[in-house]
Amino acid sequence: MIFFDEELQQITLTTQHNQLTLGILPSQHLVQLYFGKKIPHGSLHYCLENNKNAPYMADTDSQSGFQLELLPLVYPAFGNPDLRTPAFQFFYQEGQKLSDFCYSKHEIYSGKKNIPGLPSSFASDTEVESIAIYLRDALTKIELIVTISAFENYDVFTQHVCVVNHSESTFTIEKMMSVNLDFLSADFELLTLTGAWGRETQLQREKLHRGTQAIDSKRGASGHGQNPFLALAEPTTTFTKGQVYSLNLVYSGNFIALAEVDMYQQTRVQMGINPFDFSWQVAPQASFYTPEVVLVFAEHGLNEMSQRYHRFYTDCLIKSSYAKRERPILMNNWEATYFNFTREKLVALAEEAQKLGIELFVLDDGWFGQRNSDQTSLGDWYPNEAKLGGSLTALIEAIKSKGLQFGLWVEPEMVSKDSQLFQQHPEWIIAENGRIPQESRHQYVLDLSQREVQEYLIAFMTQLLSENSIDYIKWDMNRNLTDLNSSKLTGIETKELSHRYMLGLYRVLATITQKFPKVLFESCGCGGGRFDPGMLYYTPQIWSSDDTDAMERLAIQAGNSLVYPPVAMGCHISAVPNHQVGRRTSLRTREIVAQQGNFGYELDLIALSSVEKKAIKQQIHDYKQLRKILQLGEQAQLITNDEQNEWAWQKQDDNWVVVSHVYKMVQPNVLAKRLKLTNLAETQLYRLQSTGQLFTGGELMTIGLALPLPNQDYFASRFILEKVKKEER
Ligand code: DGJ
Repeated sequence: MIFFDEELQQITLTTQHNQLTLGILPSQHLVQLYFGKKIPHGSLHYCLENNKNAPYMADTDSQSGFQLELLPLVYPAFGNPDLRTPAFQFFYQEGQKLSDFCYSKHEIYSGKKNIPGLPSSFASDTEVESIAIYLRDALTKIELIVTISAFENYDVFTQHVCVVNHSESTFTIEKMMSVNLDFLSADFELLTLTGAWGRETQLQREKLHRGTQAIDSKRGASGHGQNPFLALAEPTTTFTKGQVYSLNLVYSGNFIALAEVDMYQQTRVQMGINPFDFSWQVAPQASFYTPEVVLVFAEHGLNEMSQRYHRFYTDCLIKSSYAKRERPILMNNWEATYFNFTREKLVALAEEAQKLGIELFVLDDGWFGQRNSDQTSLGDWYPNEAKLGGSLTALIEAIKSKGLQFGLWVEPEMVSKDSQLFQQHPEWIIAENGRIPQESRHQYVLDLSQREVQEYLIAFMTQLLSENSIDYIKWDMNRNLTDLNSSKLTGIETKELSHRYMLGLYRVLATITQKFPKVLFESCGCGGGRFDPGMLYYTPQIWSSDDTDAMERLAIQAGNSLVYPPVAMGCHISAVPNHQVGRRTSLRTREIVAQQGNFGYELDLIALSSVEKKAIKQQIHDYKQLRKILQLGEQAQLITNDEQNEWAWQKQDDNWVVVSHVYKMVQPNVLAKRLKLTNLAETQLYRLQSTGQLFTGGELMTIGLALPLPNQDYFASRFILEKVKKEER
């Protein structure tokens, strides 16, 4: 609900449990009065009473003691006179640099509008209200529109900002954040998801200190290194208790997220497009939109925050009809064959997959052009019929005749130096005139800021998907953007390239996913190099890491599913010794870990022993019974007895609770411990499937389940509990 109190000059947005209150000062500056759990309240302007009269700080509007730098501002301008990090910076043609935006009006409406050209959340039920708050600079007549939506049933607020140029000259955006949040305290810990290729989304937690702590990407993709997520948590916050404020950017390109602690131990948080190598020309009457930020406040710990993101993304962000549907168990041939396959091998793999109960066969890289290694052929998207032993259509038919669905890998945004496409269109790549462009994995990035290039991508994907019966597409992206320049942009416009690339990519993805709504799309950024809400909008699942080792996956998956729905993260059982780290883990452990997310296999099924095949057949059979809860149930991460050595998570739906627990290293001479569950109904009875024992939810949460003692490293166990129906008691 959104309510404007004219007398108090207060705008209050509420959801089921939370509240965001903004105030309009007599000077018409817009301030944040309160953000947190919903509270009964009248005027909240008193929250700012202490924030007056700091020595050596500029007064605002010549009013002694009225100092904007001390106030929690909704969208602070540069230097007039707040000298903390501004939320935006505009440069005007006449050399002016200052802006002074004040409240002019607002509109409250039910529902939510799309952001032109960008992915953004949508109202899946009627209980969404939005407010567009217009801020106007009296001197330039330029208008900023801060739009905030309140999703009542999801406890989520979203925000984006639009600037409209009502002046008579073009101006330059040098920085424009999606959100600015000012907190009156700095007593927080900063949570971010950091990593690298093969080590994505590791949760990093550090104390806020004076100065600025920031994460960002300058890679042209959200990146393996930092995920566009940031949270401030009370120092005592755990998975099950404590407050946390969190932000996640619906964007897949260069971003920044920062927390700045000022001289008075107040904290400013911002998130948006990275101002690094960015600027945007706004012509008279033109507008510019920032991406959307999803804000979640949780009062009861990180699990509550995660569950809110999971539900919200499932219902209100992922466009695909697969968002709430069970996903097929897939077999991907990448780690089974890499580039080295024949038609016979593929068909044999598919045959084995079908016998074991797998439902979707995915042909990865290497099926087109002369692609027998990563050195060639991206861009030449015609099937290599010699390698496929005939047409792609015939191969698809052969695989489908076994009763499997068929999926195919593509990397449309790229072109190999050694390709016909590059010979024909050298001007289509991202490169700077006069310099030799850098290759990465022997490939260049296509300049998606060019309309012609977008049309080419749309045309080839349309042809591929119209001429073949393809159920699934893996959309890969295996390098970052260097040599940032375009043959079609000149002067200052070249600084628009990274964002124009994203707008081009989003246009292509929107067109193709709308044309082929039945196809299941999985995106991939060389593992988790582009795992963000922007991509999730178009592709309901994303390959979370090229590291398929079960032990490595524990941290990756825990970090990833802190924000993103577990079913969105691709998780496969691969061979041992593992191809990335050489580790041997049991099939049971690989099963339990991979089934945290979107489950599949990525190994040579033919090379398995008959014992292993039998075990896999059983795994798949069991998984099908539990698929609904494992894929779509509510996930909570559990607090273990030894956080360095143990990982545990729980999934539940209306009928079942499934608990997974993994020990990393075995220790001698220790006693078995218990694992406490969470978020169960106190008096509900649960039956442990393996023993038939009955427990109340209260017992499971306070006493816990008895863990088995591990007899080897990397030991995993699963507990299945059935909720006892009232009539059975
Ligand atoms: C990187 C992906 O992450 C892998 O799964 C695989 O598809 C390769 N690219 C293929 O080149």
